[in-house]
Amino acid sequence: MHGFSTDHPPSVAIETHGCKLNQADSADLAREFVQAGYSVLSSKDSVDIYVVNTCTITHVADRKARHTIRSARRRNPEATIVAAGCYPQRSPEALSSLDEVDLIVGNKDKSTLVRQVGEWRGFVPVPCAIGDVPNAASPKIARTRAMVKIQEGCDQVCSYCIVPKVRGRERSRPSDSIVRVIGQRVQEGYKEVVLTGTQLGTYGLDQDEVTLSGLIERILDETEVMRLRVSSLQPQEIEPDLISSWANSRLCPHFHMPLQSGSDQILKKMKRRYTGEEYLNAVNLIRSMVPNAAISTDIIVGFPGETESQFSETCRLVDNAMFAKMHVFPYSERPGTSASYFSDTVPRTQILERVSRIIDLGQISAMEFRKGLVGSIRSVLWEGSESGQGPYLWKGITDNYVKVTCLSQRWLANEITDARLCDAKDEMVSVELI
Ligand code: 5AD
Repeated sequence: MHGFSTDHPPSVAIETHGCKLNQADSADLAREFVQAGYSVLSSKDSVDIYVVNTCTITHVADRKARHTIRSARRRNPEATIVAAGCYPQRSPEALSSLDEVDLIVGNKDKSTLVRQVGEWRGFVPVPCAIGDVPNAASPKIARTRAMVKIQEGCDQVCSYCIVPKVRGRERSRPSDSIVRVIGQRVQEGYKEVVLTGTQLGTYGLDQDEVTLSGLIERILDETEVMRLRVSSLQPQEIEPDLISSWANSRLCPHFHMPLQSGSDQILKKMKRRYTGEEYLNAVNLIRSMVPNAAISTDIIVGFPGETESQFSETCRLVDNAMFAKMHVFPYSERPGTSASYFSDTVPRTQILERVSRIIDLGQISAMEFRKGLVGSIRSVLWEGSESGQGPYLWKGITDNYVKVTCLSQRWLANEITDARLCDAKDEMVSVELI
């Protein structure tokens, strides 16, 4: 029995903010919607249901969520607008005070989101036949890189961070289920799988006899995934045993390792579990075991009490680490975190001035990293091109996370090819196909 009130299946758009874990959650939601008979469209289309999968890591992320919700309502006056994810988990009141929002679904209730939408709209979902799903699942989501969640939650106590409050305690997904899902993604045509989570390095600690390196080994042995990427690791988790897995060339030589600060006093106040020197040791270990690895990082500028000289320790470390990419976050006080009780806040203008200085250093560092690769050959996964008549201008990504471009008559979508890097001036490096 078909229970839809219109001739067409209701349409859904999902807009995702924040981290790769949220992207994995959105991909799962898209699949569930398709399975329940909805059609998943792009956030630019006009739709019946608009889900904003929010981030709440800083007050800037909150502001972006509110802005997105208002703009989604303007573009879709009749739609059901759903505020989902981390922001409503932290502060449902803040979202229920917005007139534009119809439904509020925090992380804890994400698994019931599709059902709640159905109840709200009065739709009786029509499950599609098994087997329809892979092809139908979200045609607008490019079929090149799949985000797969391996765990969720964080037991660390970093003093600035709201994530443990909105993602809960660490829970690992069973390795059998991860291996099965990755096998399915490979069948669907994905060439790269990104393992996502909040705290990947402690994967399996809540289960028996599985570790991250054991999981990686199983995935490489039991699936035919061509590229596997680990979305982030903490410096204290970088050990020869784990890093030796990267001898397998299917594992991408790319490490995202949050630094936050180069000052030992600030790191201590942040309750991070390493010193600047230990961080650099981790960098050196990676560089000695994984040639040409890209190392990217996150930095918080203007943590309470950060002096000019402590900030310059961070700058010095950045000069030494040759980061391929840096995400710089001006410190944002998050309600209820232990750092929110510090009173020695750094004035906003000073924070922003430091932010712009360190962004400049990061760009120099990224350029140095790219320069070191000019002339070398890397594998590139081609993601897309401007459509039209050839030659096509392709964009792709190397195994070590450099964005590249080339002009070619060939149709390269979702192919992995070898390419020589030619020019490091721009963030988008030009390459020639081999
Ligand atoms: N203020 C600024 N940046 C933050 N991050 C986490 N919490 C805060 C905060 N309160 C940054 C960290 C983390 C990244 C995901 O977000 O750098 O690694």
